[in-house]
Amino acid sequence: MEKKITLQDKTFKIFIPNSEIEKAIDQVAARMNKDFSSYTDSNPPVMLCTLNGAVMYAAELLKRLTFPLEFKALKLTSYQGTKSTGEVKAELPPSIANFKGRDVIVVEDIVDTGNTIVTLKNLLEDLGAAKIFVTALLLKPEVYKKDVKLDYVAMSIPNRFIVGFGLDYNELGRNTEDIYVLDS
Ligand code: IMP
Ligand code: MG
Repeated sequence: MEKKITLQDKTFKIFIPNSEIEKAIDQVAARMNKDFSSYTDSNPPVMLCTLNGAVMYAAELLKRLTFPLEFKALKLTSYQGTKSTGEVKAELPPSIANFKGRDVIVVEDIVDTGNTIVTLKNLLEDLGAAKIFVTALLLKPEVYKKDVKLDYVAMSIPNRFIVGFGLDYNELGRNTEDIYVLDS
Protein backbone atom coordinates (compact mmCIF):
# COMPACT_ATOMS: atom_id res chain seq x y z
CA MET A 1 0.00 0.00 0.00
CA GLU A 2 1.15 3.54 -0.78
CA LYS A 3 2.69 5.39 2.18
CA LYS A 4 0.45 8.18 3.51
CA ILE A 5 0.55 10.52 6.49
CA THR A 6 -2.17 12.71 8.01
CA LEU A 7 -1.36 16.08 9.60
CA GLN A 8 -4.37 17.78 11.19
CA ASP A 9 -6.96 18.16 8.38
CA LYS A 10 -4.74 17.11 5.48
CA THR A 11 -3.51 13.85 4.02
CA PHE A 12 -0.20 13.58 2.22
CA LYS A 13 1.14 10.78 0.01
CA ILE A 14 4.73 9.72 -0.60
CA PHE A 15 6.45 11.91 -3.19
CA ILE A 16 10.25 11.63 -2.92
CA PRO A 17 11.72 8.63 -1.06
CA ASN A 18 14.72 9.21 1.20
CA SER A 19 17.06 7.28 -1.12
CA GLU A 20 16.41 9.80 -3.92
CA ILE A 21 16.84 12.76 -1.58
CA GLU A 22 20.17 11.41 -0.39
CA LYS A 23 21.37 10.83 -3.94
CA ALA A 24 20.50 14.43 -4.89
CA ILE A 25 22.32 15.74 -1.80
CA ASP A 26 25.38 13.62 -2.64
CA GLN A 27 25.55 15.29 -6.04
CA VAL A 28 25.14 18.84 -4.73
CA ALA A 29 27.74 18.23 -2.00
CA ALA A 30 30.22 16.88 -4.56
CA ARG A 31 29.83 20.05 -6.64
CA MET A 32 30.24 22.24 -3.58
CA ASN A 33 33.32 20.36 -2.39
CA LYS A 34 34.91 21.00 -5.77
CA ASP A 35 33.93 24.68 -5.93
CA PHE A 36 34.92 25.50 -2.34
CA SER A 37 38.14 23.46 -2.21
CA SER A 38 40.34 26.58 -2.23
CA TYR A 39 38.94 27.87 1.08
CA THR A 40 41.27 27.46 4.04
CA ASP A 41 40.99 27.74 7.82
CA SER A 42 41.93 31.40 7.59
CA ASN A 43 38.92 32.38 5.45
CA PRO A 44 36.22 29.74 5.90
CA PRO A 45 32.81 30.51 4.39
CA VAL A 46 29.85 30.83 6.74
CA MET A 47 27.18 28.22 6.10
CA LEU A 48 23.92 29.89 7.11
CA CYS A 49 20.97 27.58 7.72
CA THR A 50 17.47 29.06 7.57
CA LEU A 51 15.40 27.70 10.43
CA ASN A 52 13.35 25.67 10.79
CA GLY A 53 12.82 24.00 7.44
CA ALA A 54 16.43 23.62 6.32
CA VAL A 55 17.75 21.84 9.44
CA MET A 56 17.59 18.34 8.02
CA TYR A 57 19.09 19.37 4.67
CA ALA A 58 21.84 21.35 6.44
CA ALA A 59 22.67 18.35 8.65
CA GLU A 60 22.93 16.06 5.62
CA LEU A 61 25.12 18.63 3.82
CA LEU A 62 27.38 19.07 6.86
CA LYS A 63 28.08 15.34 6.89
CA ARG A 64 29.29 15.53 3.30
CA LEU A 65 31.15 18.86 3.01
CA THR A 66 34.92 18.55 3.36
CA PHE A 67 36.12 22.20 3.18
CA PRO A 68 36.50 24.34 6.32
CA LEU A 69 33.33 26.23 7.22
CA GLU A 70 31.57 27.98 10.08
CA PHE A 71 27.96 27.09 10.78
CA LYS A 72 25.26 29.55 11.77
CA ALA A 73 21.47 29.55 11.71
CA LEU A 74 18.80 32.20 11.40
CA LYS A 75 15.06 31.98 11.80
CA LEU A 76 12.84 33.24 9.01
CA THR A 77 9.10 32.80 8.59
CA SER A 78 6.74 33.45 5.70
CA TYR A 79 4.31 30.55 5.48
CA GLN A 80 0.99 30.11 7.27
CA GLY A 81 -0.58 26.71 6.66
CA THR A 82 -0.07 25.87 2.98
CA LYS A 83 0.22 29.49 1.68
CA SER A 84 3.02 32.06 1.60
CA THR A 85 2.04 35.30 3.36
CA GLY A 86 4.48 37.19 1.11
CA GLU A 87 5.95 38.84 4.20
CA VAL A 88 9.26 37.41 5.38
CA LYS A 89 10.22 37.92 9.02
CA ALA A 90 13.65 37.40 10.61
CA GLU A 91 12.85 36.28 14.14
CA LEU A 92 16.49 36.07 15.26
CA PRO A 93 18.20 39.21 14.00
CA PRO A 94 21.70 38.25 12.78
CA SER A 95 24.74 40.09 14.14
CA ILE A 96 26.71 42.30 11.76
CA ALA A 97 29.98 41.01 13.22
CA ASN A 98 29.25 37.53 11.92
CA PHE A 99 29.00 38.47 8.26
CA LYS A 100 31.18 41.50 7.54
CA GLY A 101 33.55 40.62 4.68
CA ARG A 102 32.60 36.94 4.83
CA ASP A 103 31.58 34.63 2.03
CA VAL A 104 28.25 33.06 2.92
CA ILE A 105 26.50 29.90 1.76
CA VAL A 106 22.78 30.23 2.44
CA VAL A 107 21.08 26.88 3.02
CA GLU A 108 17.37 26.87 2.19
CA ASP A 109 14.92 23.98 2.35
CA ILE A 110 12.81 25.12 -0.59
CA VAL A 111 12.64 28.14 -2.87
CA ASP A 112 9.06 28.88 -3.86
CA THR A 113 8.17 32.55 -4.57
CA GLY A 114 11.75 33.51 -3.71
CA ASN A 115 10.64 36.22 -1.26
CA THR A 116 12.69 34.61 1.50
CA ILE A 117 15.88 34.32 -0.52
CA VAL A 118 15.61 37.88 -1.86
CA THR A 119 15.01 39.26 1.66
CA LEU A 120 17.89 37.23 3.06
CA LYS A 121 20.30 38.22 0.32
CA ASN A 122 19.51 41.93 0.85
CA LEU A 123 19.94 41.47 4.59
CA LEU A 124 23.34 39.80 4.17
CA GLU A 125 24.46 42.54 1.76
CA ASP A 126 23.43 45.15 4.35
CA LEU A 127 25.46 43.25 6.95
CA GLY A 128 28.54 43.52 4.71
CA ALA A 129 28.78 39.95 3.44
CA ALA A 130 31.22 39.46 0.54
CA LYS A 131 30.10 36.68 -1.83
CA ILE A 132 26.71 35.10 -1.24
CA PHE A 133 26.00 31.59 -2.53
CA VAL A 134 22.68 29.80 -2.28
CA THR A 135 21.92 26.13 -1.94
CA ALA A 136 18.37 24.79 -1.77
CA LEU A 137 17.18 21.24 -1.34
CA LEU A 138 14.14 21.99 -3.50
CA LEU A 139 13.03 24.54 -6.09
CA LYS A 140 9.59 25.19 -7.57
CA PRO A 141 10.73 26.59 -10.95
CA GLU A 142 7.16 27.36 -12.08
CA VAL A 143 6.81 29.81 -9.19
CA TYR A 144 10.32 31.26 -8.83
CA LYS A 145 10.70 34.40 -10.97
CA LYS A 146 13.30 36.35 -9.01
CA ASP A 147 16.82 37.28 -10.13
CA VAL A 148 18.81 35.84 -7.21
CA LYS A 149 21.02 33.07 -8.61
CA LEU A 150 20.42 29.69 -7.01
CA ASP A 151 23.87 28.13 -7.17
CA TYR A 152 23.21 24.63 -5.87
CA VAL A 153 19.71 23.18 -6.20
CA ALA A 154 19.35 19.51 -5.30
CA MET A 155 15.89 18.87 -6.81
CA SER A 156 13.23 20.73 -8.81
CA ILE A 157 9.56 19.94 -8.20
CA PRO A 158 6.19 21.04 -9.62
CA ASN A 159 4.12 23.69 -7.83
CA ARG A 160 2.66 21.37 -5.17
CA PHE A 161 2.61 21.67 -1.39
CA ILE A 162 5.00 19.21 0.24
CA VAL A 163 6.06 18.23 3.76
CA GLY A 164 8.72 16.10 5.37
CA PHE A 165 12.52 16.09 5.59
CA GLY A 166 12.33 19.33 7.58
CA LEU A 167 9.40 20.93 5.76
CA ASP A 168 6.18 21.47 7.69
CA TYR A 169 2.45 21.97 7.53
CA ASN A 170 1.55 24.20 10.51
CA GLU A 171 4.82 23.12 12.15
CA LEU A 172 3.95 19.42 11.81
CA GLY A 173 5.47 16.80 9.54
CA ARG A 174 9.09 17.91 9.71
CA ASN A 175 10.22 14.60 11.19
CA THR A 176 10.01 12.20 8.27
CA GLU A 177 12.87 10.89 6.17
CA ASP A 178 10.80 10.95 2.96
CA ILE A 179 9.03 13.91 1.32
CA TYR A 180 5.22 13.81 0.99
CA VAL A 181 2.84 15.77 -1.24
CA LEU A 182 -0.67 16.99 -0.47
CA ASP A 183 -3.11 14.31 -1.65
CA SER A 184 -5.88 16.22 -3.42
P1 IMP B 1 9.42 31.57 -0.58
O1 IMP B 1 9.81 32.76 0.26
O2 IMP B 1 8.07 31.71 -1.16
O3 IMP B 1 10.47 31.19 -1.60
O4 IMP B 1 9.22 30.36 0.38
C1 IMP B 1 10.22 29.91 1.15
C2 IMP B 1 9.74 29.22 2.40
O5 IMP B 1 8.35 28.88 2.41
C3 IMP B 1 10.48 27.93 2.49
O6 IMP B 1 11.73 28.11 3.12
C4 IMP B 1 9.53 27.06 3.28
O7 IMP B 1 9.75 27.27 4.66
C5 IMP B 1 8.17 27.55 2.89
N1 IMP B 1 7.58 26.70 1.81
C6 IMP B 1 7.51 26.96 0.49
N2 IMP B 1 6.92 25.96 -0.18
C7 IMP B 1 6.63 25.02 0.74
C8 IMP B 1 6.01 23.70 0.67
O8 IMP B 1 5.61 23.18 -0.38
N3 IMP B 1 5.89 23.05 1.86
C9 IMP B 1 6.31 23.56 3.04
N4 IMP B 1 6.89 24.76 3.16
C10 IMP B 1 7.04 25.49 2.02
MG1 MG C 1 12.25 27.89 5.04
